[in-house]
Amino acid sequence: MTRTVYVNGQYLPEGEATVSIFDRGFLMADAVYEVTSVLQGKLIDFDGHAVRLERSLKELDMQAPCSKDELLEIHRKLVELNGIDEGMIYLQVTRGSDGDRDFVFPSEDTKPTLVLFTQNKPGLADAPAAKTGIKIISIEDIRWGRRDIKTVQLLYPSMGKMMAKKAGADDAWMVEDGHVTEGTSNNAYFVKDGKIVTRPLSNDILHGITRRAVLRMAEEAQMEIEERLFTIEEAQGADEAFVTSASAFVMPVVEIDGKAVGEGVPGPIAARLREIYLDESLKAAI
Ligand code: PDD
Repeated sequence: MTRTVYVNGQYLPEGEATVSIFDRGFLMADAVYEVTSVLQGKLIDFDGHAVRLERSLKELDMQAPCSKDELLEIHRKLVELNGIDEGMIYLQVTRGSDGDRDFVFPSEDTKPTLVLFTQNKPGLADAPAAKTGIKIISIEDIRWGRRDIKTVQLLYPSMGKMMAKKAGADDAWMVEDGHVTEGTSNNAYFVKDGKIVTRPLSNDILHGITRRAVLRMAEEAQMEIEERLFTIEEAQGADEAFVTSASAFVMPVVEIDGKAVGEGVPGPIAARLREIYLDESLKAAI
């Protein structure tokens, strides 16, 4: 089925949507993005994603393409036009183009480019991987220093997923100065003696919208949380490990660099958090 996508004010069949070859998103990766999940035709934590988008734009001195209300309307219209029950909405804002390639930013009145499209993923909430868990490898984190800004510079994370695939695993955790930063497209956690450990927020990691929600829900469920740096060895020796993201929700990790975590099966805390997260975020979905 041909998707209807959104580009700069227009809803078009995917094959007819175009962006300039001079667009800075294309030439310079001068762009930010968000991925919002859809469950039962509703947006999960739209507000969180909209607020983070605003922050990413601000950090890069990039103009907002439209208001938050307009963004919500576009998201909802795309869900409706494409009949999405479960899936994701990808949004990208670029600094646009003034018709040439230049390292210097174009003039301030250059219009940003706004593109959104849907990804239909029936069965997203019931992903089989949530029952088996995923295997990860560790790789060095060689990304730039502002990982808190959700830019489209995804070449290294993409290479990380390929390294994992080649090693017979599903994903990779990145390590800097001996400590885990995050997964290629998710935040990383382990559980030891009932305590959930994850790296604190800084410029070194993306401030996950799912992370924030899951930590809040864990706290409400009287679970103990410690935000601190941790190593791969600690996570390997933990009782459980898991990752969070808008598209994977809470996903158990059962193996790290070939070593089983705990019993090598999804742990009860990850399973419980996934259940609470899906339940609570669906209730609050709009
Ligand atoms: N990735 N860390 C990184 C590097 C990410 O790319 C993501 C999200 C996260 C989790 O953030 P959130 O909970 O807000 O989704 C953490 C999205 C899903 C992606 O690139 O597809």
